[in-house]
Amino acid sequence: MDDFDPTRALPARFYRDAELFELERQKIWHRDWVFVGTVDQVAEPGDWFSADLGGQPVIVLRDQSGQLAALSNLCAHRGTLLVEGTGNSKRFQCPYHAWTYRDDGSLMAVPHASPDEVDKSALCLDRYRCDSWNGLVFVAMNAEVAPLSERFEHLDDVVGPHRLAELHHWTSQRASEEWAANWKLVMANAMESYHLFAIHPETLEPYTPTAGSYYIVGNEHAAATGGSEDGGDDYVLLSLPPNFVGVITRGTFLYQVVEPLGVSATRVISGGAFSDTDPARSSAVSGFLKRASARVSESLVPDFLPEDRAICERGQRAASGNFEPGPILEIEKVLVDFHRYLRSRLMA
Ligand code: FES
Ligand SMILES: [Fe+2]
Repeated sequence: MDDFDPTRALPARFYRDAELFELERQKIWHRDWVFVGTVDQVAEPGDWFSADLGGQPVIVLRDQSGQLAALSNLCAHRGTLLVEGTGNSKRFQCPYHAWTYRDDGSLMAVPHASPDEVDKSALCLDRYRCDSWNGLVFVAMNAEVAPLSERFEHLDDVVGPHRLAELHHWTSQRASEEWAANWKLVMANAMESYHLFAIHPETLEPYTPTAGSYYIVGNEHAAATGGSEDGGDDYVLLSLPPNFVGVITRGTFLYQVVEPLGVSATRVISGGAFSDTDPARSSAVSGFLKRASARVSESLVPDFLPEDRAICERGQRAASGNFEPGPILEIEKVLVDFHRYLRSRLMA
C-alpha cells in the first residue's frame, strides 16, 4: 500500500480496492481492538453473544469466574459456526457432529471417536483478547495489542464525568441496516459534524448546529469532539475506530457501529444507552430523543439515519472515478485522526 497524506481526503481507490479491503481485514479487523457489544449483554456468568470481526466469527462471553473472554466461533473439526445470537451456557456444542467445548475453549467431548483417535488438548478454540472500557466491550485477535486502558487514556477526562458504564443499554432495540458504501465512508461521515447543516438541515442542525462543533482531543487511536446543543450542555462525540462512533448527550449515549461486508457493503448498527429505561421520562433528553422517544421504544432508527445513508451511498457511487484528494478543514479535523489511524495500522 502506498503512503497517503492524512491531512487530505482519502483517495477514491480506498473505497473500491479489493486488495486494500483484504489488507484491512488482516491489519485492522484481525489485529486491532474492535467494538463487539456492551457489558450488559454479558452481565452474568455464562452469558454469551456471537460477534463478527471483519468476517471472523467470535463468541464473546462471561466465564464462570466472572471474566470477559472471547473465543473463535468456528468448530475445530470442520469449521462450522458454533453459535449464533445470544445465550447462557458453560459449554458450546457444535450443531454438526456435537463436538463440545468448555468456556475456556478446551475440547471436552468428541462423539464416536475411538479413545486414542484425537488429541483433544491440541484441538481447542482460539482465545482472543477481550476487555471493556466504560461499559463497551472490545475484542482483539492479536495478543500483542496494547491494553484498552492505554489506548483510550487520552479520553478519560472527557468521558469519565458521563459515567457511561452505569447507563442502560437498549440491546434489544438495536437496529441494523446494510448500506451500499465502504465502511470508511460510513465511519468518516459519523465522525465529522461539518455536514450537519447541509445533510441534516431539519433533523440535526437546529439542535446541534455545525457552527457549534469543536475538536476536543484525539490521536491515531481515538478522538473526542464536542458541540453545543440547543437548550442544554454540550454533547461529546467519541470516535473509536475502526467501528464505533457514539454521541453522549445528557444521560443518553447513541452510537453507530459498522461491520464491513465487502468493499462496497457495510452493516450499520444503531444502538443506544440511557440513564433511565424510558427516555421520555428522563429529566433531560436531547431534541432528537424528545422527538423520537415514541419510535425509540420500538427500534433505534434515528430520523437522521436515512440522510446519512444517502450521502454515504452517493460517495460510494462516485468512488469509481479518480480525483485529487482535497484538504481536510479545521472543522472536520477529527478525520485527520481517522486517517492517521488507518495509516498507522495499514503501514505497520
Ligand atoms: S464441524 Fe463441528 S463437530 Fe463437526
Ligand atoms: Fe450525519
